[in-house]
Amino acid sequence: MRPGQQRLAETLLPELRFALPESGLLDPARLFGAPMQAVWLEIGFGGGEHLAAQAGCHPEIGFLGCEVFENGVARLVSAVARNGIGNVRIFADDARLLLAALPDRSIARIFILFPDPWPKARHHKRRLVAPATLDQLARIMTDGAELRLATDDPDYLAWILETVTAHPEFASTAPQAADWRERPPDWPATRYEEKARAAGRSPAFLTFVRRVRT
Ligand SMILES: C[S@@+](CC[C@H](N)C(=O)[O-])C[C@H]1O[C@@H](n2cnc3c(N)ncnc32)[C@H](O)[C@@H]1O
Repeated sequence: MRPGQQRLAETLLPELRFALPESGLLDPARLFGAPMQAVWLEIGFGGGEHLAAQAGCHPEIGFLGCEVFENGVARLVSAVARNGIGNVRIFADDARLLLAALPDRSIARIFILFPDPWPKARHHKRRLVAPATLDQLARIMTDGAELRLATDDPDYLAWILETVTAHPEFASTAPQAADWRERPPDWPATRYEEKARAAGRSPAFLTFVRRVRT
């Protein structure tokens, strides 16, 4: 990032960044200056390419972005400033803290794109896509909300399919492998996807739906 962009990002960050309440739950709708039709969340947004593009296409939606990587946060802030985007708020800490602080049925779409695969068996417990996280996602998602996941790691793909499909609150929208290989048109590419393709890896793009509560 150029020094000018860095300075801009530092000036704007305090306006976009939010902290969790010391007690009680966070009301995500109140983070935005105007009423939003719904709130969507991206976990681990990396450089923020996908989040900035989605927010630009959907000014009626409030976007929460969660990322622990400082340079990534600065890149997203810089993209927000460059493109005059007003509907993004940032949580620059561990997603698990944010998930625990969000109310039931408060998020209408969640993106987790190319989460770290943690390939060694002894590190699998660090994977973001895991039964405990899925319980939290199901709790905060509205009925029929989409969960969009991407990965370029065949082992993590198998893990995701097994774990999400086994979860009682999620349904798959595309059971065939052929359906996962094409990134849907309303799903902008990320930097990590480009790196994966350059290295000859084929990403998978998966969409699950939070089942309607009975
Ligand atoms: C492989 S990168 C992918 C980044 C981006 N989604 C992309 O596709 O280019 C995974 C990202 O998830 C972030 N991350 C990992 N664990 C996280 C957590 N618990 N909370 C928030 N971000 C997390 C990392 O900092 C990293 O930027």
